[in-house]
Amino acid sequence: MKYSKIREELGINVVKTESEELAILTHHLQSSREEKVNVFAEDAAIYVHSMNGHVSKLASDAFQLKMPIEWDIPFPPPANPKFTFIDLFAGIGGFRLAMQSLGGKCMYSSEWDHQAKKTYEANFGEVPFGDITKQSNKDFIPESFDVLCAGFPCQAFSIAGKRGGFEDTRGTLFFDVAQILKKHRPQAFFLENVKGLTNHDKGKTLATILHTLREDLGYFVPEPRVLNAKDFGVPQNRERIFIVGFLDKKSAETFGYPEPIDKSVAFEYVKEEKEVSVKYYLSTQYLKTLRNHKARHESKGNGFGYAIIPDDGIASAIVVGGMGRERNLVVDDRLTTFEPITHIKGTVNREGIRKMTPREWARLQGYPDKYVIPVADASAYKQFGNSVAVPAIRATAKEIINKIC
Ligand SMILES: C[S@@+](CC[C@H](N)C(=O)[O-])C[C@H]1O[C@@H](n2cnc3c(N)ncnc32)[C@H](O)[C@@H]1O
Repeated sequence: MKYSKIREELGINVVKTESEELAILTHHLQSSREEKVNVFAEDAAIYVHSMNGHVSKLASDAFQLKMPIEWDIPFPPPANPKFTFIDLFAGIGGFRLAMQSLGGKCMYSSEWDHQAKKTYEANFGEVPFGDITKQSNKDFIPESFDVLCAGFPCQAFSIAGKRGGFEDTRGTLFFDVAQILKKHRPQAFFLENVKGLTNHDKGKTLATILHTLREDLGYFVPEPRVLNAKDFGVPQNRERIFIVGFLDKKSAETFGYPEPIDKSVAFEYVKEEKEVSVKYYLSTQYLKTLRNHKARHESKGNGFGYAIIPDDGIASAIVVGGMGRERNLVVDDRLTTFEPITHIKGTVNREGIRKMTPREWARLQGYPDKYVIPVADASAYKQFGNSVAVPAIRATAKEIINKIC
């Protein structure tokens, strides 16, 4: 039976539900017959039995996996996985794309943002669990898996005068990552963070993280490395710190971060092939206001966040944010030029200056075109801006997998 049919019958509507039922259900559907311990089965069955009539009948057949599920989503679980992983702070699944493409099977995902969950489910057929700080959600993490992946938010630790280890990270999201590593002891982990982590709180935050991972948890952790997305085949200048660790000493000693690939690509490479909707074009008035603001800020020596990217240039890191009062005017690197659209009458500017589309943001992060974008533009920009550049993640993950498989 097709997944879309099952999801329709079961009323899987990610945005509506606050509870974890759909996470349990969809994680269960992804668990293969061969997986001996399916921590989701019992709770999934309770949910199904709470539903009535034919739905319950149909669903329970699917649950018992008597019928093979036909995965009519873009990125189904691999049939014969080489290794397993979990996807924490999953966002829209940048890590998952990379890990699955290397033959990995995701055993558990967590992400609390409903719009991101919607995008995740549309692509992977799985609804992530919510708040990872909740013990009830951690309890669903399967006992055994090979790699923990997490792009956790960067927070300061209050370590003044303390040892700077595991206990001192309490109350932060890194503490939850550390707790999961301590309990499940996967062979390896792959953490990603903003480059600013290197000097965050005068370097104390990173030092505490490394101390915890190495001394308290006993992982072997090579020196973290800052990698740039542009070195891995996308036209985006996005530097991120990668922290990789192994239980096995030799794996850590022989692990090497990937070298930049030779091929560098320009912005043209991600540009929409066809003319895009007029809604992405700036009005003459808006463009004028934007230029005035930019000129005023620059005359005061301040930067102002937009750039018009030439076809042969590269974009700086895409993020969604704002600067003080000009929040609604900040369109950081979302502008590009296109053929002037003189045939459209009205207020659209005649220079062909427009925002980048969500698809162009997706491409800047290395997401393949078959990746579905089911949410409104504002959510899509936020999701791709928060995400990872998949090619850099994949290149690093490949080196990790080489060590553990
Ligand atoms: C930097 S983003 C990671 C994006 C992800 N790597 C991707 O490829 O899209 C961090 C994510 O953590 C999520 N998050 C933050 N706190 C959380 C929590 N307590 N439980 C679950 N998710 C959380 C945020 O909603 C955000 O999507």
